[in-house]
Amino acid sequence: MSDNPSNDASLDRTGAAVRGDRFSGGPAREFLSSLAADERIFEADIAVDRAHVVMLAEQGIIEQSAASEILTALEAIALNGHDSLPDGEDVHEAIESAVIEQVGPVGGKMHTARSRNDEVATCLRYRLREDLLDSVSATLALRAALEDVAHEHTDTVMPGFTHLQPAQPTTVAHWALSYERAIARDTERLLAAYDRTNCSPLGGAAFAGTPFPIDRERTAELLGFAGVVENSMDAASARDFLLDSTAALAGLATHLSGLAEDLIVFANKGYVDLSNEYASTSSIMPQKKNPDTLELVRATAGTASAGLDGLLTTLKGLPRAYNIDLQRASGHAWSTIDAVTEATDVAAGALTSATWNESALADAAGDGFTTATAVADKLAMCGLPFRTAHEILADAAQHGGDVDAIEAAAADVLDEPLETYLTRDELHALLDPVHSVESRDSRGGPAPSAVGEQLDTTADALDTDREALDRRRSGLEQAHETLTEVVHSHV
Ligand code: ARG
Repeated sequence: MSDNPSNDASLDRTGAAVRGDRFSGGPAREFLSSLAADERIFEADIAVDRAHVVMLAEQGIIEQSAASEILTALEAIALNGHDSLPDGEDVHEAIESAVIEQVGPVGGKMHTARSRNDEVATCLRYRLREDLLDSVSATLALRAALEDVAHEHTDTVMPGFTHLQPAQPTTVAHWALSYERAIARDTERLLAAYDRTNCSPLGGAAFAGTPFPIDRERTAELLGFAGVVENSMDAASARDFLLDSTAALAGLATHLSGLAEDLIVFANKGYVDLSNEYASTSSIMPQKKNPDTLELVRATAGTASAGLDGLLTTLKGLPRAYNIDLQRASGHAWSTIDAVTEATDVAAGALTSATWNESALADAAGDGFTTATAVADKLAMCGLPFRTAHEILADAAQHGGDVDAIEAAAADVLDEPLETYLTRDELHALLDPVHSVESRDSRGGPAPSAVGEQLDTTADALDTDREALDRRRSGLEQAHETLTEVVHSHV
């Protein structure tokens, strides 16, 4: 190898600078390489290299001059981008080769006191943090969209369903907040996944630590991590941060699929109109307006479930410490987070741009004798055992589900006239879905008064979670600035 390899026309850009000719070629070369997929962690690897080199210099492990040359080379490599990298088994090897191409053998000092095993684990965590914050942000936007719907439709009665059958009247606000609460828990799970991801494995080396006097806390700090993954074998091996994240996303995708399905059913019944921007038409049937975006949101649960399964299966039974199966693990997490975050954005857009058909909802709210429970509840409040009241209303449901049917059923079941409990006028009022909703004011219920409290809970939770997101984002930004300043002080 010449002293200045960048001028050496005979240098092949295959990673030979890093590992000599041993294992640098062969028919399985492409099969082994993760270089193309590693584009996703290119910037992460540059940051990790920078922090590591700064630490090596601060600890006196490499000379200041060597650090300066390497950091300058990294600057140029970062500017040229992933596509300009030489060939290599992966981005770590390719960047190291590029450094050595630029500065000569001194560039080989960059890989002191580390391994690609701790390096890749650090890069994955570094990049995943950004993606997780984007997905958290998407959940917040969707929750805000649901909150808006709830604000607007506190009094909009609609049929509530169980087993897809009209069950009891509720309101659009109550329905919307039921999803907001579920997705709020997804936000929490994503934030928890973030906090577990936000620990630095760097310095674990291949798995067995290093004899060099490294400072793991320093590299963690420079990269914005909250702490280190203590055990060096765990640091190199662990991918459960990918699992936490993918599992949280699969849960979110499951909620999104339910939300999409509800909206598809509601659109089908004419309860809600989707904006044309979120619908498609048929290529053959000109009258069709298909809820295609929502169907793809619904299908994203399949993508996420596949990602989670792929990850679990890849990790299952892996022995300690590093095995290159791990190279195939991260793709499952990336495909999941991309698909689920995009679906979250689309669900928010579809919801925000949809129009609720209040009169169709009001007309349907009482269909199918949905106020039967309201009458039974009232009879029980008047002193009749609930089971007896249920029997009367079940009988009435079989015979038309109106005031006459209720009276006829009561005459069969009761020894006394129904009038003892309820007048005809009271019965009529009880069959009104609006009345039913207003009476259901137990905590968390659909009555506008109860929904008002739920709206307060949602607003508070959104504030808290926005702050949680901002704190983490500004932590990353600050670390990024610090690293940039520290790097400049070394070049
Ligand atoms: N490209 C590898 C990965 O993504 C990096 C670590 C390679 N280490 C090794 N011993 N082959 O996991």
